[in-house]
Amino acid sequence: MRRLAPVLREDGVELDLISLIRTILAACKDISFRVGQADLAGVLGSTLDENIQGETQKKLDVLSNQLLKDMLLESGFVRAIASEEEDFVVEGEHGGRFLVAFDPLDGSSNIDVNSLTGTIFSILPVPEEKMAGEPITEQDFLQPGVNQVAAGYVMYGPSTILALTTGKGVRFFTLDKTHGSFLLTQESIQIPEETQEFAINSSNQHKWEIPMQRYIRDILDGKGGIRGKNFNMRWIACMVGDVHRILCRGGIFTYPAHTDEPTKPNKLRLLYEANPMGLLVEQAGGLISTGSENILEMQPTELHQRVPVILGSKQEVKICLDYHDYKF
Ligand code: F6P
Repeated sequence: MRRLAPVLREDGVELDLISLIRTILAACKDISFRVGQADLAGVLGSTLDENIQGETQKKLDVLSNQLLKDMLLESGFVRAIASEEEDFVVEGEHGGRFLVAFDPLDGSSNIDVNSLTGTIFSILPVPEEKMAGEPITEQDFLQPGVNQVAAGYVMYGPSTILALTTGKGVRFFTLDKTHGSFLLTQESIQIPEETQEFAINSSNQHKWEIPMQRYIRDILDGKGGIRGKNFNMRWIACMVGDVHRILCRGGIFTYPAHTDEPTKPNKLRLLYEANPMGLLVEQAGGLISTGSENILEMQPTELHQRVPVILGSKQEVKICLDYHDYKF
């Protein structure tokens, strides 16, 4: 079957990809509105269900997932989706060149306390051999992060902000709620290479492996310790919020492995959390790693695979990786 070559915009980005991103944003505007309505719309609180990862689903998790899923699969640009809230891949009936993996509402524990949440998305190409129409399977989503053609998040905070990359740097767009459009507000986002700010849930300190214990201990020693400087700590309990701060002013964020749960040591998901955040961070001049390998180069093995994550300002991530004996 002869296929038409993709139509490109002046900057080389495929027009179908732009239309697909617009579809994600249409769903995110709706999510932003509902997050803002909160109790007024009766959307706070939990459902009686759990997702495949054994986490209780919040009403807004389910709603956000439904909005994204329906709009993407109806769009004609997306062959199939994978979501934190779906056990399996869902294929649509309208074809399309792309696969989308997403976390519809990251930071669920913040929903009911009016704190930051966000939608994270990763866009992958449909593998060449499936372009003719053979059914999409989980295997087709198991592509390394370097294959992503676009990635981003929409953060629902005091303002609703999109951070987007199509592989040519990172840009921020702010939702103008009076007109309903995302307007470009910052271009060429660059993460400062050095930092004095770190983000980790330190209540888990007793569960970390030795390299992370040592790295954080040296940071906490401040000016008088071997790092020779004082650090500040922030933890938003929403990866979108922590990564956004790092894109704005630098920092290091880590969610390391927990040694007390050998069968489930990691929290963050590779396909719809670590990979899209990794592409944004790398495109903004930062680094992302598991502690032993570059996350974007990993070959995924499962749809809902979890990984340890260390990301942020280049020099600080390198220092953290030195503690892990990681060789560049
Ligand atoms: O997706 C998981 C997530 O909500 C991240 O957004 C966030 O960084 C992390 O979990 C918070 O975990 P904890 O509640 O253990 O601090």
